[in-house]
Amino acid sequence: MRILLAGGAGYIGSHVALVLLEAGHDVLVVDDFSNSSRTAIDRVEHLTERAIDLIECNLADLAASRAALRDQNFDAVIHLAGLKAVGESVAQPGRYYRTNLTSTLNLLDIMAEHHVSKIVFSSSATVYAPAAEGVQNLDEGQPAGHGITNPYGWTKAMNEQIIRDIQVSRPELEAVLLRYFNPVGAHPSGRIGEDPAGIPNNLMPFVAQVAIGRRDHLAVFGDQYPTHDGTGVRDYIHVMDLADGHLAALTSLRPGVATYNLGTGVGQSVFDVVRAFSDASGREIPYEIVAPRPGDVARAVADPSMANRDLKWKAKRSFAEACRDSWTWQSQNPNGYTAG
Ligand code: WQD
Repeated sequence: MRILLAGGAGYIGSHVALVLLEAGHDVLVVDDFSNSSRTAIDRVEHLTERAIDLIECNLADLAASRAALRDQNFDAVIHLAGLKAVGESVAQPGRYYRTNLTSTLNLLDIMAEHHVSKIVFSSSATVYAPAAEGVQNLDEGQPAGHGITNPYGWTKAMNEQIIRDIQVSRPELEAVLLRYFNPVGAHPSGRIGEDPAGIPNNLMPFVAQVAIGRRDHLAVFGDQYPTHDGTGVRDYIHVMDLADGHLAALTSLRPGVATYNLGTGVGQSVFDVVRAFSDASGREIPYEIVAPRPGDVARAVADPSMANRDLKWKAKRSFAEACRDSWTWQSQNPNGYTAG
């Protein structure tokens, strides 16, 4: 199939593009490069020895997107485009609602105009209410939305609802919503990886930048949580497993809307991450315990059993592999995709 991959130049998108190409699909990447690099596209083409069609446009601009896609044929959409920083969304809620909701509404309109009825949507574990202290798993059964603590999470829950409501009006629509837990790691070649703009919000890229010497220490956001060592526990999933999950979702599409957790079902604490990354890199990771980050929960670990069953997909790479691959990327690209 020819897949329109919205946001395909980003961290998750570039790994999804690689997996799609290696599975024999053709890929049309649509990206505005507001938080991604053309270099990632070049490197995926080199790794796969396949060409990627590329259209630069902002999907929140309907007229521009319609014009850019007018003559394009595609069989399905994988929609990863959007703003994704939790903290930034609290500071800029209007921009997050406008960008993340409008781009989804526009893409769904353009799909209808092109008679395309297959979509895989990038959702997030943030649609779950903050888990009560010590809750082991977050399962798909939980309704999204109640208790979300930030505008970013609300845009994901609202986009899920938009897709459900559009599907009622377009019964032929085939949609899968993938709720990501914490994507980490990189393609084992070290040629593509996570390259956050500015100071990393997320733990793994921050730890990687401490290991490479770009940051002098890690601030651990609290060590008094009801977890095995007092620090926050999350479900870190290798980005290649996440990408494989998109391919599995694509082949599972049928009329209706299906929702799945993409996670490992295993939790790692902040101290577990520091220890594992130090082992993978051979570098010390100095840290300082600071106050908990507002909005953080003690524990968020997926229940991936429905994805395992229905998508015939299971995360198969270990956390140690994720740390190894993240270090390969970071050590080979100290400044990310920026040259020098
Ligand atoms: C992980 C753990 C922190 C940074 C976020 C988004 C979510 C999803 C994944 C997109 C927590 C601790 C972190 C640091 C720390 N993104 N931490 N020092 O918050 O689970 O989820 O990213 O879909 O939407 O909310 O990930 O990596 O920010 O934090 O101690 O400098 O690391 O307290 O326990 P999080 P994270």
